[in-house]
Amino acid sequence: MAKRTLIAGNWKMNPPSVREAEKILKGVMARTAGLRKTEIVIFPPSVFIERLVKIAGRSKIRLGAQDVSVQSGSGAFTGEVSADMFYDSRARYAIAGHSERRNPSAGRGESNHEINFKIKAALAAGLSPVLCVGERERDRDHAYLQLIKSQVEECLKGISKKSMEKMIIAYEPVWAIGRNAVREAVPEEFQEMKIFIKKILADKFGIVPADTVRILYGGSVSPKNAEGFLREGEADGFLVGRDSLSPDKFGRIAKIAEDAGQWRLS
Ligand code: 13P
Repeated sequence: MAKRTLIAGNWKMNPPSVREAEKILKGVMARTAGLRKTEIVIFPPSVFIERLVKIAGRSKIRLGAQDVSVQSGSGAFTGEVSADMFYDSRARYAIAGHSERRNPSAGRGESNHEINFKIKAALAAGLSPVLCVGERERDRDHAYLQLIKSQVEECLKGISKKSMEKMIIAYEPVWAIGRNAVREAVPEEFQEMKIFIKKILADKFGIVPADTVRILYGGSVSPKNAEGFLREGEADGFLVGRDSLSPDKFGRIAKIAEDAGQWRLS
């Protein structure tokens, strides 16, 4: 059965206060209440999760963690938050391997190996991981394809076929992310990459999980380009950055996904 389109908002280190976070969430709730074929997940800063879970209440909006520790349970790991703790706070998703955490110049430089541990910790805790992959630049010789292949294979090393049912992959080309993006990606670039990733998954896990894993697009998604990525690019959803902080824009993206979802299923 086709899974629903997933529209996720990665709030990154925003907004500056819990009061503003509540306001954005309430705005998103008001604009997405009637959607049936679209799943909405918000990834706020971790300190806001418990409060936002309460506000989301019985609505269909789910909350997720932007990152989890490689360590499970609890222990002497200053500053770390485990996947189990997030699950206990009623988060149900976790991003793993976002490019802003992989970036060595940002002082973190997370490796595929470390991300693999985070995915395993998230799965063991009952969270659905959203693995981010993406190249920093596209070279003429297509070496970036090998980089994506390594990211997918190494980050998913040792993951069972059964666990793949919970996996989500977000293709986020780094050159298309944020205010300093080199340019916007076009739907064909996403579609090609989706086929490429599905082929890697099919070779590794077989057709069945490969076919049902949702592949999201992320990188300057807006109400202007969302329809193209869904219809021509055949994206299974989005990981939205900046525009997820605007209830109006995020709500419009979700509505476009709902309408495109009806088109996809008809
Ligand atoms: P922007 O939508 O701001 O480009 O961010 C994308 C992103 O990094 C989502 O995880």
